[in-house]
Amino acid sequence: MATKQGMELVDRDERGVDRAFRRDVLAGLAQPDKAIPARWLYDDAGSQLFEDITQVAEYYPTRAETEILNTRGPEFAAAMGKGRAVVEFGSGSSVKTPLLLRAIDPAAYVPLDIAGDFLRAAAEDLAQGFPDLPIFPVEGDFTRTVHLPQPAKTLPKLGFFPGSTIGNMVPRTAVDLLRSMRDTLSADDAQDAATAAARPMLLIGMDLVKDVSVLEAAYDDAAGVTGAFNLNLARRINRELGGDIPLDALRHEARWNDDFARIEMHLRTTRDITFTVSGETFSMREGESIHTENSHKFTRRSSYALLQAGGWTPTCRWTDGEKRFSVILAEASVLRSAP
Ligand code: AVJ
Repeated sequence: MATKQGMELVDRDERGVDRAFRRDVLAGLAQPDKAIPARWLYDDAGSQLFEDITQVAEYYPTRAETEILNTRGPEFAAAMGKGRAVVEFGSGSSVKTPLLLRAIDPAAYVPLDIAGDFLRAAAEDLAQGFPDLPIFPVEGDFTRTVHLPQPAKTLPKLGFFPGSTIGNMVPRTAVDLLRSMRDTLSADDAQDAATAAARPMLLIGMDLVKDVSVLEAAYDDAAGVTGAFNLNLARRINRELGGDIPLDALRHEARWNDDFARIEMHLRTTRDITFTVSGETFSMREGESIHTENSHKFTRRSSYALLQAGGWTPTCRWTDGEKRFSVILAEASVLRSAP
């Protein structure tokens, strides 16, 4: 669909409603265990609130990962080599990217994101600091195979997926994503991909299992920023989908689910409510919830198992000084008969 900004990947109806958003919200609210995919938390207000979260004292992942990227540059250079094309998945407005680029001196940078305007603005910002680096922004959905532009296509590639965003997906979705990334990063000419030097690599941030009190505080900060981020989803539904969800009857909840090793965010009702969204009526009893996000936490072994299931063999692993967060380097697995 053509807009002022050019092509937009969002499919909107005649009233400008994002069709996928409406479909996901209506389907999610119709289930007995209500749940809405976490990606819808990130409208403009939600993206800003997430930026604010990264600044609150209790939210450690951003600081811990940045510490790793800041201090391990020489080791990154040794493990990844110079001259790769760095492909960042869901680049957004990452402040972490320059740290990696400085460390490994790549031949090209390919930021990949579905939000086109944001993507191009971030690419221009980054270009200021790296005047000699060829940058090729690609607007696309990285959950599918994306075709990379030349010359990035024929360079050895390094995927970059920081932030433990992989933790927002349940394992089967995470595995699908890891496999798509492998396809996106594999050179079209198969003979290149077979040589060790050209084999694609992936540098991925994965948050670690730790004390429940530390985890729950990180997702329920005292200043209420994470609560505002969670509630913003209901506000967005009301605004974009003509809803009348009573916001005063919802409270933010972050709780550790030990069986699945994840923090879950919920919007829990404080009384019985009935509301409409896009003309459909929904009722919730007091104490019921809408599940809005999972944030899986990993051990060394669980992170390696997930990567291997997605077609990646871990080769190096770094943690911050307090062992709160991990950054893992993996290489596209060679598919051969094995025990
Ligand atoms: C953006 C996925 C890294 O799961 O820690 C932060 C999102 N949600 N606080 C995370 C989030 C609530 C965040 N990630």
